[in-house]
Amino acid sequence: MPNPSALLETPAMPHPDTRKVVVDIAGLNKFYSAFHVLHDIDLKVREGERIVLCGPSGSGKSTLIRCINRLEIAEKGTLLVNGTDLSDNTRQAAQVRSEVGMVFQHFNLFPHMSVLDNCSLAPMSVRGLSRKQAEERARMYLNKVGIESQADKYPSQLSGGQQQRVAIARALCMEPKIMLFDEPTSALDPEMVSEVLDVMVKLAGSGMTMLCVTHEMGFARQVAERVLFLDGGKIIEDAPPNDFFNAPQSPRAKAFLAQIVH
Ligand SMILES: Nc1ncnc2c1ncn2[C@@H]1O[C@H](COP(=O)(O)OP(=O)(O)OP(=O)(O)O)[C@@H](O)[C@H]1O
Ligand SMILES: [Mg+2]
Repeated sequence: MPNPSALLETPAMPHPDTRKVVVDIAGLNKFYSAFHVLHDIDLKVREGERIVLCGPSGSGKSTLIRCINRLEIAEKGTLLVNGTDLSDNTRQAAQVRSEVGMVFQHFNLFPHMSVLDNCSLAPMSVRGLSRKQAEERARMYLNKVGIESQADKYPSQLSGGQQQRVAIARALCMEPKIMLFDEPTSALDPEMVSEVLDVMVKLAGSGMTMLCVTHEMGFARQVAERVLFLDGGKIIEDAPPNDFFNAPQSPRAKAFLAQIVH
């Protein structure tokens, strides 16, 4: 029997999200010469949050995440990473960048270095680890992405999926506070997509804060807390995956989903 008095209780309010804000973007505007690429972007990313960013080609997805890593500098607005203002602070940019791991579409590994050296270089030069410490750490993360046995090879000796897993391990070797992914699977042959997504799913399960530009909607449904949809340099939808996929609000998002979800 249901307890009749329970029916009179006020429904519980959703809890406010009290997780620490690691990326705080407000009123961000970015121009390429006269071209206005990002318009008034407001975005908070909280510790441990997993966000998928999608939208049509040219909508500004890469530009937005490159601003977070200060690979691009916005003309207007504020951008705080871990509390440090990156909008006008060049001195601390290198420090903050070292806390933001980035994985690119085309891997961007150093071709003349072994996998192990690719992974141990920055921890030695930026974090001051000894070679022994850096190599131990590199082997640990290469093991996590399932590729430790390839440590002595060069990038050209690996498949695309393996290279991308090395790129993820390399970023993790800096023990970043947040990981940014810019279409990490879109340059891969189809049979290699899942080995990279599996690593990303595992990373999400470990509590890493992740902001991923991807059109892998299965991944978005599985791990994202929020999906952001960008169009024309604006965030026009920001919703949990179920809401975004089942009931997109804008005609642009509906058209986009009709194209990519089969
Ligand atoms: N360095 C640049 N100089 C001038 N225009 C640029 C530059 N980089 C990007 N753009 C333009 O800014 C817009 C946004 O580009 P961006 O690469 O952020 O889009 P995107 O959403 O990542 O697209 P895609 O899905 O194709 O990767 C595009 O119109 C692009 O042509
Ligand atoms: Mg892009």
